[in-house]
Amino acid sequence: MKDKLNRLRDLQGEAFEGGGEKRINKQHEKGKLTARERIHFLLDEGSFEEIGMFVTHRTTDFGMDRQKIYGDGVITGYGSIDGRLVYVFAQDFTVFGGSLSETHAEKICKVMDMAMRTGAPLIGLNDSGGARIQEGVSSLGGYADIFYRNVRASGVIPQISAVMGPCAGGAVYSPAMTDFILMVEDTSYMFVTGPNVVKTVTNEEVTSEALGGAMTHASKSGVTHLTAPNDIECLAMIRQLLSFMPQNCEEKPSDLPYTIGEEIRPALGSIIPDNPNQPYDMRDVIQGIMDDTSFMEIHPYYADNIVVGFARLGGRSIGIVANQPMSLAGVLDVNSSKKAARFVRFCDSFNIPLLVLVDVPGFLPGTDQEWNAIITNGAKLLYAFSEATVPRITLITRKAYGGAYDVMNSKHIGADLNFAWPSAEIAVMGAKGAIEIIFKKEIDEADDREQKLKEMEEEYNSTFANPYKAANRGFIDEVIDPKDSRRKLIKGFKMLEHKVDKLPAKKHGNIPL
Ligand code: HXC
Repeated sequence: MKDKLNRLRDLQGEAFEGGGEKRINKQHEKGKLTARERIHFLLDEGSFEEIGMFVTHRTTDFGMDRQKIYGDGVITGYGSIDGRLVYVFAQDFTVFGGSLSETHAEKICKVMDMAMRTGAPLIGLNDSGGARIQEGVSSLGGYADIFYRNVRASGVIPQISAVMGPCAGGAVYSPAMTDFILMVEDTSYMFVTGPNVVKTVTNEEVTSEALGGAMTHASKSGVTHLTAPNDIECLAMIRQLLSFMPQNCEEKPSDLPYTIGEEIRPALGSIIPDNPNQPYDMRDVIQGIMDDTSFMEIHPYYADNIVVGFARLGGRSIGIVANQPMSLAGVLDVNSSKKAARFVRFCDSFNIPLLVLVDVPGFLPGTDQEWNAIITNGAKLLYAFSEATVPRITLITRKAYGGAYDVMNSKHIGADLNFAWPSAEIAVMGAKGAIEIIFKKEIDEADDREQKLKEMEEEYNSTFANPYKAANRGFIDEVIDPKDSRRKLIKGFKMLEHKVDKLPAKKHGNIPL
């Protein structure tokens, strides 16, 4: 037995070496951790159990039968994060550049299937040269096997992808179909076709970083939700992200211990400027309401006219969608609608209640917006809110104008509780635009046009630039003092804790994609 145990240890030692010392050093020189080191930092200490350590590929072409490395370029298994079960795969760039062979794909599929069967999140750490070139179509088949499972698992278990090295070609589509993508700055990139192909086809000169680096996808394309300066911070972000989520769609997120303390927050009363056209930072409202330092913003560099993220409110995990007056006055446009719609759908899939903070002057006008389908994209957000069955609370801090009032989780599309601050202005449009339409004749005929405009504007504002018309109709449930917001919201979400709402039986809806 002793000999046999020694052999096992030798083989394990060989597997631990991956592609060997030279390649591991190269990985470190690039500022990257190895796959095993990443798993170590991701999971609770000592919790990792590996599955498939001795798997090798089956290829014989191109002399591959003489090059077999245990694990075949991906480490797979399970462990825990904050004591909760998770499954993980980490591609090992030191083994055939982390490229995906048929067996490499089989290993990933195995943990995906286990994650689905046991109802636990799946985390993929991507660092790969793409399809294993020596394997041809077997590798492409392997990718498709993963894509198929990504889709089947969507909305059943949370799926998180970190891109921590190359991720090119069709390989990008597995992360793209997961719930959240994180990228490490300077060492990762994602693109369907790389700079050389781009040059050949379009004659554009572009670097990998500019084409598909972390900041490109965080700010321009919106493909990635979060970026991290290095591997360790990226892995810490995954842990934080998961803390807001349940294990699967049948469960609710777990609450953190919470004791009622000082719930009155006077500082909230001084955030809204006296001048309704002056911006303020909606993040101050979020921080002012939520449990201290609990806010984790998602997509911070993309479509920053809307803020989305997770936070704790009285210990409860909450998804927040908030217009941001600091950017484009908080208008809804194509990108902000897409960003918010996807976030709302994630929260609804995993039973995370939604808080919606509204200060929106309307939709952004212009040919650019119309030609880029603001109609279809704005409809995404309307659709996402309307189909969400989780507890939903809205707080209008200032403007709620036009169609954007309806879209931003209004009572009419199923919100459970709608609050407004006394500073709220709820109307079809702002005073200037409105009076020029409804009082056009009077203004044109007035001796003093400017004076008439001023008078009409004042009249319109005193009639509509407040929350009381909406409250008269019951569209706003309560107009509240800003300092009471936190208390009201904690009580509101507690009241909605056991909300039951079901969509009509259907195969699936047809969101305007
Ligand atoms: C097999 C690969 C490989 C691949 C890299 N390697 N990519 N082996 N298949 N796709 C191996 C290299 O031979 C090398 O082996 C080791 O990994 C490290 O590669 P280097 O080139 O030395 O590393 P680096 O300089 O950092 O460059 C990394 C890289 C480059 C930019 C990723 O390797 C590269 O361009 N690889 C090919 C990328 C590609 O075209 N893939 C196919 C994409 S199409 P040794 O033994 O020397 O260490 C695709 C389709 C998917 O993926 C479709 C799904 C639907």
